Amino acid sequence: MNICLIGAGRIGIVHAIAIASEKNAILHSVVDVNQPAAEDLAKKYSAQVLTIDEAFSNEDIDAYIIASSTATHADLIEKCSEVGKPVFCEKPIDLSLKRAESCAKLVEQSGIVCMLGFNRRFDPNMANLKSKVDSNFIGSIQSLVITSHDPAPPSIDYIQSSGGLFHDMMIHDFDMACWILGDTPDSIYVSATANNEDIKKARDVDTASVIMNMKKGAIVTILNGRQASFGYDQRIEAFGEKGMLQVKNELEDKVVLSNADGITQSKAKHFFLERYEKAYHNELLHFMESYHQGIKPSVDISDGVLALKIAEAATKSLKSGLPENL
Ligand SMILES: NC(=O)c1ccc[n+]([C@@H]2O[C@H](COP(=O)([O-])OP(=O)(O)OC[C@H]3O[C@@H](n4cnc5c(N)ncnc54)[C@H](O)[C@@H]3O)[C@@H](O)[C@H]2O)c1
Repeated sequence: MNICLIGAGRIGIVHAIAIASEKNAILHSVVDVNQPAAEDLAKKYSAQVLTIDEAFSNEDIDAYIIASSTATHADLIEKCSEVGKPVFCEKPIDLSLKRAESCAKLVEQSGIVCMLGFNRRFDPNMANLKSKVDSNFIGSIQSLVITSHDPAPPSIDYIQSSGGLFHDMMIHDFDMACWILGDTPDSIYVSATANNEDIKKARDVDTASVIMNMKKGAIVTILNGRQASFGYDQRIEAFGEKGMLQVKNELEDKVVLSNADGITQSKAKHFFLERYEKAYHNELLHFMESYHQGIKPSVDISDGVLALKIAEAATKSLKSGLPENL
């Protein structure tokens, strides 16, 4: 599969690494409005540097990966629909639910494969937990707690164009909750604040607790933060009538030191590249399979629309201080 990568920033680099590690995929070309970024990445993997117009008229390209800034996603997905080629797009589809819905309509009409970058679904341990929930290991789920703390906030430029914590960060957790439970929320309630002065000035929050009442009865609690001193904090706990399932943090190494001072272990893996390396590779494989077999990917644009709908309701709840119905 000849892949054109649009966006050579933090996550673009992660996708380039995944493509390079897959023998049936080739990084054909890189597009970025930041020319040096495109050139650096392309050089590393012997790919071409293209402009956006060249990328959409190049017949050698089989598929596109969109890893550019959020505001570009919906337009670029629509370009993929127009040229009738498969696309993998990073979350979120757009900052506006309406815009995402019109984009999803076009994708549906065109019939292209359009996969969304909810990478956590492809983490082996998260997938194992989901499969045990589905196989009734712990009976019906009464509560689900999802914890996600980044090791450090992104740049303020990034924060300002990200749409805020709910659209940018917690959107992964909204998707995880709906996916694990096979359910959607009836209502959502948010409490959030900004501890970081720059994030406060940017009128965003960096610490948030969310409660969602799901249609089938489970209560979901999501905890998010932009700064964890011990690495990338990624944990899940599903509590059911017959037991509990947990995915704990993955640590930098597995050595446990026990001495007179106590028992210590290393920090959690640093961030998304280290923690979800396998997941990024697995999601690429799934994208390629969907393309080759002509089947809908297990996570598609409709999941992106659902997660955005929840992010929008979360933003409303934060403003009103009241639960928001969906
Ligand atoms: N799934 C994940 O784990 C994950 C992690 C990080 C970011 N993301 C998502 O990926 C996207 C990019 O995030 P990032 O952290 O890599 O940001 P980034 O700022 O590091 O990189 C974005 C890149 O896009 C380029 N760009 C902007 N407009 C463009 C355009 N019109 N055409 C081509 N290139 C353009 C920028 O020059 C920049 O190099 C965001 O939507 C973000 O939500 C997902």
